[in-house]
Amino acid sequence: MAILQLENGTKYTEVDDITRELSQLNIQLKYWTVGDNPQIHQLLAKDSLTEPEKEQILQSLDNYFLELKQTAGYQSRDLIVLHPETPNLDNLLSKFNSCHYHTDDEVRYIIAGEGVFGFILPDTSQAELTVEAEEFINVPANTEHWFHLTPAKRVKVVRYFTGTDGWVPVYTGKDIKFDRILGCVT
Ligand SMILES: [Fe+2]
Repeated sequence: MAILQLENGTKYTEVDDITRELSQLNIQLKYWTVGDNPQIHQLLAKDSLTEPEKEQILQSLDNYFLELKQTAGYQSRDLIVLHPETPNLDNLLSKFNSCHYHTDDEVRYIIAGEGVFGFILPDTSQAELTVEAEEFINVPANTEHWFHLTPAKRVKVVRYFTGTDGWVPVYTGKDIKFDRILGCVT
């Protein structure tokens, strides 16, 4: 389950508290099950996946994609698989671990592992949200945020897109006040 840590050290683990805090930024966080197909669970437990394996997982979850297509005009989805042996992992992550926004919503569904989204709240304080497996997050367009992995450096995440241009990061140069190690919840 997700964990929200505020800059002042407050840590929330209850869904109601987290939802209330995130609502200040209109961020949605939902529980989405990956189902109980043992073959899919076996694939989710692997470090790396072939393209056909990724497609098999994506198709098993396409009920969610279909809903996003029908309700919000989403057009494509892909599956990102990261683990400690992923080539150029730090380089890949460096695109997203500083403060930025996109002109489209950032819509992500973590299906294995975990990742940390950081935000700047309306009072200019900062918060970091650890999103875990079977959690869906929608970060609205133009919301300043950042993303990094926990020390386990393992995540499988489905990304949903309405187009190809709007998710390019626009960097804002703000300092992130969270310590990269202490801010992580393993
Ligand atoms: Fe982003």
